[in-house]
Amino acid sequence: MDRFYITTPIFYVNDVPHLGHAYCTVNADAIARWHRLIGDSTLFLTGTDEHGAKVAEAAEANGVTPREWTDRTSARFAEAWRGLAISNDDFIRTTDERHYATVQQFLQKIYDNGFIAKDTYRGLYCVSCEDYYTADQLDGDKCPVHGRPVTEMEEDNYFFRLSAFEDRLIEWFEKNPDAIRPASKRNEALSFIKGGLKDVSITRTSLSWGVPVPWDEGHVFYVWYDALINYLTAIGYGEDAEKVAAWWPNVHHLIGKEIIRFHCVWWPAMCMAAGIEPPANIFVHGWLLVGGQKLSKSMAADGDAPVKLTDITPASLTEEYGVDAVRYHLLRDTPLGTDGEFSIEGLIARYNSDLANNLGNLVARVATVVGSKCDGVGPAPSPTSPLADSASTALAAAADAWERFAPHEALEATWRLIGAANAELEATEPWKAEPGTVDDVLGSALEVLRIVSLLISPAMPATADEIWSRIGLAGSPSDHPLPAAAAWGGYPGGLSVTKGDPLFPRRKATA
Ligand code: MSP
Repeated sequence: MDRFYITTPIFYVNDVPHLGHAYCTVNADAIARWHRLIGDSTLFLTGTDEHGAKVAEAAEANGVTPREWTDRTSARFAEAWRGLAISNDDFIRTTDERHYATVQQFLQKIYDNGFIAKDTYRGLYCVSCEDYYTADQLDGDKCPVHGRPVTEMEEDNYFFRLSAFEDRLIEWFEKNPDAIRPASKRNEALSFIKGGLKDVSITRTSLSWGVPVPWDEGHVFYVWYDALINYLTAIGYGEDAEKVAAWWPNVHHLIGKEIIRFHCVWWPAMCMAAGIEPPANIFVHGWLLVGGQKLSKSMAADGDAPVKLTDITPASLTEEYGVDAVRYHLLRDTPLGTDGEFSIEGLIARYNSDLANNLGNLVARVATVVGSKCDGVGPAPSPTSPLADSASTALAAAADAWERFAPHEALEATWRLIGAANAELEATEPWKAEPGTVDDVLGSALEVLRIVSLLISPAMPATADEIWSRIGLAGSPSDHPLPAAAAWGGYPGGLSVTKGDPLFPRRKATA
């Protein structure tokens, strides 16, 4: 059995879960579900990043201890993910005891290997990035990412000797051209390395909210150096060598584009320094943005103020449009690797065209005609149906796309199959034919619905289950591993088909 280990970044708990976080997590979830569906032993990890100045500041501003604050805010992420049907196998918190143990062991190892040393550091610090900048990296006198003023800091710190890894990193990039995707992001990281690496300050004495440095009391590790190690904590680094060997280094880190340097430069170097392989796969996605004025107007409480993407909670959308429709929109409309524009109009347009008109319509029309022409009992498919080819093409294209982290293409391919089935029904018009003459065409349409349930199950698990049960099948499509389950002819016929309410009632476009 193949193994598949996928991670999201761990989210800062000073923020509420918003649609940008959901974009990353839903994509990782769908990819993990695909791998479970093809029978891989899968480990899907997400969690929360709870140390550092930013969290300590937020706790203080709210008049509670950092621990109380992180308990409260971490739970909001777990809840948001439940609300989006996220199927993570583990949820790591950097305040977990297991994480402290791993961080201390891992960094102690790097210290023992001679790659951590003490020095004084002076620099311009952005609390939102939890990172230092040089004057020429600033946008005027502000952080280039957050536009916030930076603070002058001076600390007696331990430094990671990142500069010692320049050549080894370049060699690793050259030997593993596909480790970081898309290629444009790999090139960005590589040119950063080629521009010269400076040692990185990895401890702080200015705050106590962090993992203590085991060899020097009074220091805590800098939040990024603690956070990255979560990917090893979850697989038992320092505790269970067999488990680590089973899952590492063939991990897939899905990350946003602003955290490339941490994941594609620091993290591989840290792994090298600790004597383990760097992560084998890092996939960089773009940002979901909101620019459209209409969204601001339709979503803002006062009807006027602009709404930022970070103000949109996943729950506000799932309550209105349903979990699977929101998941579908996130997966289908913004390809991983590029930036995307989010708008309610876009969500509704996609909902109406793909979900209401295509998928919903196919389900409703097949069930209705099976009701009227076959007494509600689904016939078996025809082995010679032209749809058999469409189905195997869709399966092959979807499998290839999921492998490439292109959920939008996997769904596009599936919707071509749905379109082919709708076209076949329109061409043969079984609703006009005599009962008894339409078994082949209806059986084949039911077979398409069975295969579609399998193919959409990573993206829309509840819808997949619902279609599966409406065509009379027991259990869930996710219990039937691909590719075998998607071979043409699996629908047995003789099952009772239920019409049910419209799966996706049409929505009015917003004004
Ligand atoms: N805590 C660090 C990650 C540590 S991983 C060892 C962090 N947290 S974050 O909460 O600020 O961001 C987490 C992820 O959310 C990042 O990958 C980021 O790109 C993603 N997103 C935040 N806003 C986003 C959008 N608007 N669109 C898409 N993803 C975005 O960085």
